[in-house]
Parts: sequence; C-alpha cells; structure tokens
Amino acid sequence: MKKKLSIFSLVLAFILVLSACASGSGSSSGSSASSSSGTQKKTLRVVDDATYAPFEYMDKGKIVGFDVDILNALSKETGYKVQLANVGWDPVFVELKNKTADMSISAITINSQRKQTYDFSVPYFLSTNKILVKKNSNIKSGADLKGKVIAVQTATTGQAAVEKIVGQNNPNVKKFKTINLAIMELLNGGADAVVADNTVIEEYAKNNPGQNLKVIMDKKAFAPEFYGLMYPKGSNLRSVFDKAINTLYANGTYTKIYQKWFKASPDVNELKA
Ligand code: ARG
Repeated sequence: MKKKLSIFSLVLAFILVLSACASGSGSSSGSSASSSSGTQKKTLRVVDDATYAPFEYMDKGKIVGFDVDILNALSKETGYKVQLANVGWDPVFVELKNKTADMSISAITINSQRKQTYDFSVPYFLSTNKILVKKNSNIKSGADLKGKVIAVQTATTGQAAVEKIVGQNNPNVKKFKTINLAIMELLNGGADAVVADNTVIEEYAKNNPGQNLKVIMDKKAFAPEFYGLMYPKGSNLRSVFDKAINTLYANGTYTKIYQKWFKASPDVNELKA
C-alpha cells in the first residue's frame, strides 16, 4: 500500500511538472530557444487582399504567392500557426484597427501615415509605383498623367502618388476595389493609364502579351517603397517576427522564395539598410 502510494505521488508530480512546462511555452513570447517547436502557441489570424499577383492571389481556390510563401516560412520559424484569410483591401485595415486579426501580409507599403494607426515589421520587399499604358500611348512620365484618366486601386500608395501629380479629388482618377478592375478599365478604353506596384503591372504585361501593354518607370515621380507585415498598434508579435525575417535573410530562405517567384536574386542588404 505504501509502495502504491509513493508511485502514485511520483506520477502525480510528473504530471504536474509536465503541465507546468506546457503552459509555460504556450504563453511565451516566442523569443525563447523553444520558439521553433511552438505547438502550444495560438493560431494567428492573418488577413490579405488576394487579388495582387504575384504577391497574393487565388489559384484553384487557394491563396498563393510570394507573400504566402514568406508567411509560411515565418510561421515555421516562429512556431506560430497561421490561418490566412482573403478579406479584401479595405477590410485588411479595418480588421487590424479593430484587432480582429493579428497580422496582415498583403504587399503593404510602410509609410508614415499608416504608421500612425498600425505597426509594421522591418522591410521585406522593395517596390516602386510604375505606369501601365497601351503600347501606342504618348504617356512617357509621371508628369504626362496630368489631364489623363488614371485607374488605381482605392487607398493604395498608387492612388496617393497619382494624386500628388494631378491633385487630390481629381475626377480623372478612377478608383477601383482591385487592381484587376483598374487594368480592365484601361483595356476597355475607360482609362489611359494604371499606376500600381511595378512587380504587379510588369507581371500582368508579361503574362498578357496580346494586350499590347507597356510599363513606364519614372524614378522622379515615384519613390522607392518597402513592404512590411502590418500589425495592430502595440502588437507583441512584431519583435518575434522581425527576428524571424532576419533569419530568413541570413539562412537563404528569403533568397530561395524570391528566386522562385521573380527569377532573379534579391539585394538583401538593400532591405536590411
Ligand atoms: N503597395 C501598395 C500599398 O501599400 C498596394 C498594395 C495592394 N495590395 C494588395 N494586396 N491589394 O498601398
């Protein structure tokens, strides 16, 4: 009887120790050495606007793209499981403001205006706005957009850049829910140009050679932009994921994903600067 009791208390003690360990790692900030095991961490709700190939778009019912691969690599690195939801561009901002989502990765440019309401990671991609026009267009620069009809995705840096040239609330700026609708407007003759992130319109022009489109760069009109993961203000995920982004830079994972999608090598130092 005495022996049974002591075995019982031993087992009990063992269970207590085990459960203490489990709850400890579950509430950890992820900065500990055990961060890559992470089975106890909560699943993060990540939102995006999956209409922005090659960064995030729908393919056979699945969200795919460069950002999705980066997100999955970060999930593996941090031990946080992620549930990615395609909610649309405006709802991305609403959800993060209301804290109904934990994070967004959606080709989002880091800028001072957004920083007032949201937190951002370190940069993970270098972009710039460019102009998409028909091949026979006489638009050659940002300044040439004056007096033209320009289609943009609503509330993007593309819209802001165009308005800087042609003025705010200019009726010649047509705003669309997605970049694809803006491009349709150009193809249908309802607009003379589209302004958006270079990679997105370059990819579109390349994949649709029959539509006779060309892309115009104007470094004076459009500044370099950096994409970041976006969080609700004060999120404690930021430092954990920043560390993980730097790990992807250092261990070659970032370069591998970049090469897969862009068939070129990234300048990682440019991003780290
Ligand atoms: N980089 C631009 C911005 O931050 C456009 C991003 C649009 N992203 C998207 N998934 N639709 O405003």
